[in-house]
Amino acid sequence: MTGEVVVITGSNTGIGLETAKQLAKRNATIIMGCRDMQKAKQAIVQIMQETQNKARVELFQLDLADLDNIAAFVKSVKSKFDQITILINNAGLFGLIEKRVTKQNFETIFGTNYIGTFYLTEQLLSLFKKENQNRVLNVVSYIQKFDSPDYSFFDTNKKYEHIKTYFSSKYFLTLYTLYLNEQYQDSLNLKAVAIHPGVVDTEITRNLSSSIKIINIILNSFLRYMYTFFIKTPIEGAQSTLHTALANFNNLAGGKYYEECQVKELKQITIKYAQESYSFTKNFLSKLKY
Ligand SMILES: NC(=O)c1ccc[n+]([C@@H]2O[C@H](COP(=O)([O-])OP(=O)(O)OC[C@H]3O[C@@H](n4cnc5c(N)ncnc54)[C@H](OP(=O)(O)O)[C@@H]3O)[C@@H](O)[C@H]2O)c1
Repeated sequence: MTGEVVVITGSNTGIGLETAKQLAKRNATIIMGCRDMQKAKQAIVQIMQETQNKARVELFQLDLADLDNIAAFVKSVKSKFDQITILINNAGLFGLIEKRVTKQNFETIFGTNYIGTFYLTEQLLSLFKKENQNRVLNVVSYIQKFDSPDYSFFDTNKKYEHIKTYFSSKYFLTLYTLYLNEQYQDSLNLKAVAIHPGVVDTEITRNLSSSIKIINIILNSFLRYMYTFFIKTPIEGAQSTLHTALANFNNLAGGKYYEECQVKELKQITIKYAQESYSFTKNFLSKLKY
């Protein structure tokens, strides 16, 4: 990975941290985009320990729930780097029981996982240079339950169902993956893929209310006892991301959805929906002057 410059969002913990460690060990330059700088500095200590202080790591503050903060992050990255080769949109938010809104008044799960990630990616595109082999790796989730884009999730006043919102944000991000791949595979020599990491034991459930957390802990312990092979550790959860980051560029299936390091065909991810949802999101943001 020498010469690769990799932006990883949400790399202070969980799947993102394991991804950062493994790519740093292989000599990539890592740009960490993290909301919680305290946690991120502790993560860097871990990365340094595991690479005998050889890792090349830069840290910039990034809050995907604030478009102005995203723009500031991109400005900081551009002030130090004139190119990147891999963007790993790993950060994600799950389980906010009570509805919250972002700085620009979007519902927070949808605003972070899709709108913020979309805006970040659009802002970083100019750092991909055609002479390199470029990748955008979007960490999504199980999305099979959606068969077409539902634009009502852009409406902050929509009735809030946090699980539906989460899966919808990931469905939109998967459609955007296909759009990116189609749009930039020739002009930027870029491939984009979506990745479902599986069910992974991370901090992802931290926002669930304490009663649900207790049920979750009991359920998790039970599941762990019964199916130790079913719930993954963070390093196991990072495998599909690592597979798509490390795969020979010619073998990477651009525009596709990966699960267990393999391509899985999803019939609801169509270019028609991908283009339609891209235009909708662009118009939505430009009306807000972003
Ligand atoms: N774990 C699973 O079972 C599972 C299953 C399917 C998909 N995924 C996806 O995998 C990805 C990684 O999740 P994980 O399991 O590793 O969970 P995690 O341990 O909770 O890590 C999530 C990361 O996202 C960051 N993040 C959340 N909101 C953010 C914001 N507004 N701005 C910037 N960063 C933000 C978190 O930062 P803070 O530490 O500051 O909160 C953290 O670094 C997510 O996209 C998730 O949706 C996970």
